[in-house]
Amino acid sequence: MLARVSPEVLRLAALLEESLRALAEVPLAELVAGRALPEPSAALVEHLRAHRAGLAGWLRTPACAEALCVRLARWLWSRNQYVRLDRAALTAACARAAEALAEGLEGEADPKDMSERLVRTGQELQARVAALVRAGGGKTDVVCSEYAVTLQRDALGLGDAPLAAPVLDVGCGASAGFVRALRAEGVAATGLDREAPEDVALVGDWLSFPFGQDRWGTIVSHQAFSLHFVHQHLAQGPEAYAYARVYMAMLRALKPGGRLVYAPGLPFVEGMLPKATYRCTRVPLPEAMMSEAVHALERAAGFELAYAAHVERLA
Ligand SMILES: C[S@@+](CC[C@H](N)C(=O)[O-])C[C@H]1O[C@@H](n2cnc3c(N)ncnc32)[C@H](O)[C@@H]1O
Repeated sequence: MLARVSPEVLRLAALLEESLRALAEVPLAELVAGRALPEPSAALVEHLRAHRAGLAGWLRTPACAEALCVRLARWLWSRNQYVRLDRAALTAACARAAEALAEGLEGEADPKDMSERLVRTGQELQARVAALVRAGGGKTDVVCSEYAVTLQRDALGLGDAPLAAPVLDVGCGASAGFVRALRAEGVAATGLDREAPEDVALVGDWLSFPFGQDRWGTIVSHQAFSLHFVHQHLAQGPEAYAYARVYMAMLRALKPGGRLVYAPGLPFVEGMLPKATYRCTRVPLPEAMMSEAVHALERAAGFELAYAAHVERLA
């Protein structure tokens, strides 16, 4: 979408990115608690003043609110991968901030006034977003990483045997490395992620994705769906039921003989699978991956989860 917008808007987006980068070292908890944001940069103030009319028009468009929402959501997930975001409310908060800025551009020519307007708008947006983050249960940093392809293969216990196609990588990551590696081997593979690259994967939420029926030879998910399922299970909130429903939908989406392969394991649900329809095999994590942090996580959870589960659909 940004490819079709004016150079002024692109420059504004770059300056806003810089403002986000300036927050990298500030703990999320402090931002949510209302810690003051850094002063807007002189370059940002100057850019807004220099292109007032064109930028005010853009700021009022739904596309602007949507683009701000998408960027802000990705930034929030980069700070806490578990936070649940009310997208409609986040878009509305972004639209209000953009509108406040547009009003300022129509009225204020003085750099000091413009800077104060930016600070006020930033504070209001911060307060609204903080309320959404608190409601979404994610007010501290919980960082999300992507892993090397060989590590993913090893952790999932896949060995060198070819995977039955087509393959779906659920929570494939922003670069979808595993999907790309499979495609390079000639395997039909697709990723799914809320931050997916669109050339090899589908952008979407796994809680609402239509997985289909009898469709996939293999569904893999490394440190993604099952990690979030464990988190929701331990939080004992209603979201855990949504994860359980989607887990069963993924199993139904396998072709007969297909496999759902994921790590960490989900012992609290695997034990309840009908044995006539599904066979679950555990593959322990390689010794080198069994860090003290993994043991601590298991102790905190009260169950074993440091293994890959291979759930085969028998019929
Ligand atoms: C820890 S990363 C793992 C990425 C990749 N599987 C790997 O091992 O490198 C978890 C991924 O799950 C994605 N994710 C989290 N919640 C999601 C959701 N509700 N729908 C789709 N993707 C989600 C995140 O965007 C992130 O890319």
